[in-house]
Amino acid sequence: MSNSPLPSPLGGPPKPTSPGGLIIREREPVNFESPFEQLDSFLTPNDLFYIRSHFQAPALDGNNYELRIDGAVETPLVLRYEELRKLPSETRVATLECAGNSRIFLVPQVEGAQWELGAVGTAEWTGVPLPRLLEKVGLSEDAVEIVFEGADRGKPKEKPTPPAEISYARSLRREKALAPEVLVAYQMNGRDLPPDHGYPVRLIVPGHYGMASVKWLTHIQAVRETFQGYWQTSDYAFWEERDGQPVRRPLSEILLKSQIAGPRMYEVVPASLPYTVFGAAWCGGADVAQVEVSTDGGENWTAAEFVDAPRRFAWRRWRMTWQVPSQPGRYQLMARATDIQSQQQPEKHDPNYGTYVIHHPLAIDVFVGL
Ligand code: MTE
Repeated sequence: MSNSPLPSPLGGPPKPTSPGGLIIREREPVNFESPFEQLDSFLTPNDLFYIRSHFQAPALDGNNYELRIDGAVETPLVLRYEELRKLPSETRVATLECAGNSRIFLVPQVEGAQWELGAVGTAEWTGVPLPRLLEKVGLSEDAVEIVFEGADRGKPKEKPTPPAEISYARSLRREKALAPEVLVAYQMNGRDLPPDHGYPVRLIVPGHYGMASVKWLTHIQAVRETFQGYWQTSDYAFWEERDGQPVRRPLSEILLKSQIAGPRMYEVVPASLPYTVFGAAWCGGADVAQVEVSTDGGENWTAAEFVDAPRRFAWRRWRMTWQVPSQPGRYQLMARATDIQSQQQPEKHDPNYGTYVIHHPLAIDVFVGL
């Protein structure tokens, strides 16, 4: 892996990279992007996995870590790190995508971290299924949501901002919290969670955008009313039409998307030779059934072949051989996915999602050279 600056996919100066090879979007708090063009394995190595943090990572120590579970439950519980690790565990593969991934593709440019294609990654997570913990404490019949709170605190940047420091907290509807895939995780790809990925313990919500997977998790609280926290209503929320009125709703499921990893934006591709276009597609709600690639700006589409078998909550890598034309010039590549329910990616970004959920086919311009 090269540590030299990468050319910016959308032009501009080369991007600085971290020692591990991540693209630096912001140093403090740490917001690093994965170089998506290096997609060459199903699981993203820990040091190439994107990092999205709103505040400085709290310095937590497994030796005196405690997880409190309380609220609308019969028997509140405090679990120490070693107690949690002794409970029966499970390992699950899940793709995490930040809801703001690909924001740089929005025109006109919007505020927020200018993520390109790399605020997404797939890892194997190990921990205790959340439903087992909720069973232990006896979730009340009338608990409608579960709130997950991280140990990190600060003043968020996205307006309107709350008057004082807040912690990072998100909730899940009861049904999703009781789904077998949701984990209270302590390992990532067989290793203890790295500090920036939530050490010692984080939530993993397969199928939901990354904001649901609360890092540095120290408090789980069952509540009897819908949680209206900042990260639920102000940030990481969208406008939904209800009875003719737009209402604010929290983002949840990852919508169907396909991305091209190679060629990169503005790459020069040799004329008249076969070129393997490759990438990955994913969806939180249903398996990806098909990916098609266009090399002429969306006029014609050719089916790609899958590299990975379908696996619930994980991306599927794909590839397609492009017989590069002999005619030099600029060509526009796009990929679009279809899921098993025959849903296709939308043609355009939906403004109801604001600066989030950018899942329309993204145009990658390349130059065919002699
Ligand atoms: N949890 C806490 N406590 N604080 C955060 O800032 N960021 C969220 C989520 N969990 C965040 C958090 C967001 S927006 C994303 S996309 C994922 O963590 C990113 O997880 P990663 O940094 O391990 O890739």
